[in-house]
Amino acid sequence: MTTASIKYVKAREIIDSRGYPTVQVDVHTENGVMGRADVPCGRSTGTHEATELRDGGERYAGWGVLRAVDNVNDVIGPAIIGKDVTKQRELDQFMAYELDGSENKSRLGANAIVGVSLAISRAAAAALGIPLYKYINANAHVLPVPMINLIGGGKLGSSDLEIQEYHIVPLGANSVRHALQMATEINLRLRDLLLKKYGKPAVNVGDEGGFMPPMKGLREPLEFLVKAVEQAGYGREIAYSLDCAATHFYDQETGKYRLAGEELAQQDMIARYKALVKDFPIVSMEDPLHEEDWEGFCQMTAELGIQIVGDDLFVTNPKRLKKGIELGAGNALLWKVNQIGTLTEALDAADLAFRNGYGVQVSERSGETEDPIISDMVVALNAGQIKTGAPVRGERTSKYNRLLVIEEERGRQGRYAGRNFRQPIGQPLVVQ
Ligand code: PGA
Ligand code: ZN
Repeated sequence: MTTASIKYVKAREIIDSRGYPTVQVDVHTENGVMGRADVPCGRSTGTHEATELRDGGERYAGWGVLRAVDNVNDVIGPAIIGKDVTKQRELDQFMAYELDGSENKSRLGANAIVGVSLAISRAAAAALGIPLYKYINANAHVLPVPMINLIGGGKLGSSDLEIQEYHIVPLGANSVRHALQMATEINLRLRDLLLKKYGKPAVNVGDEGGFMPPMKGLREPLEFLVKAVEQAGYGREIAYSLDCAATHFYDQETGKYRLAGEELAQQDMIARYKALVKDFPIVSMEDPLHEEDWEGFCQMTAELGIQIVGDDLFVTNPKRLKKGIELGAGNALLWKVNQIGTLTEALDAADLAFRNGYGVQVSERSGETEDPIISDMVVALNAGQIKTGAPVRGERTSKYNRLLVIEEERGRQGRYAGRNFRQPIGQPLVVQ
């Protein structure tokens, strides 16, 4: 038995940022360290995501996760005792294929499996006495550009705005620290502008911390953001991006998108997006069309000249991403470990993306906890871009605050991805 072998695994039910129960897992090793990870939860989910196990029944209105917790404590935990915690790939494969064995991790629950998978990586890093990002990649050094959600709607808030997220993208910052300062200055201006035009209800915030003004359609949020950016004294340092989450305003029956009282066909939507990209410095668009419109994604990727990110389209699934690569659908992967259910499969998806010239944007879920693991992941991947909400709520600030620590630790060896966020360029070695 090595000193990094697993001694025991303990899971429990905790609460996420929306008040729903979720799974927390502790993995203890023989040499006395513990790795803990929390499982986030989506609301604007893709149809093809791995299965999250919920209890049903009366308790927590059916949202309980005690079955998933039991699956960790009674099935997965006992089966991995004594195994080497640094064998991430072997352990993930064992959980996914031997213990679960279903296509979508529906037997034990992706929320059970992913909790163990992430806690294993944390325990391994702790057993070796190094930060998680370094354990995953000794060459981790790219600090990501944050895509910061300042105005939101869709399924993640209570406004009528169809588009789910409008981000500012501080490409011209020189560090994460600088990007955060800019974002806060802009957000304060934005708050004043929204208050003045729409009154107090407009500055309530949604699940990811963005304001929820009573707007509709594509353009008005961008007009407000541009004004706030100007008033904060910025201009070309800031670009914009959108997560349209179009699956959720697409009507399956009519085959049309419902936007600001209109019914728009695929080509009408694409024409609107093109006009938007012409009028605003938008550098990235996520899920502009619904999750099965591969052909529309191909057209947009070919014709818009910006980053087109697949979230509900790819669901961090190497198989769906492979299809996208073959077709030319999208040019970036939204990376959420719990969409696929193990760290190894998510790392495989990221690898596949990079090898084929696709960008990788590491992402929060709309339901989060204080666990900042995605900050370590984005630096480990040298991915160059992260989406983790507005820097105003604890479960979002924990990610930004972790990035600040990592940025400090990397010091002069770190590099902020800036304008190269899609294909970050390595940092030339410098003399310390
Ligand atoms: P989620 O959505 O609710 O599935 O986490 C966020 C997103 O669409 O990126
Ligand atoms: Zn999305």
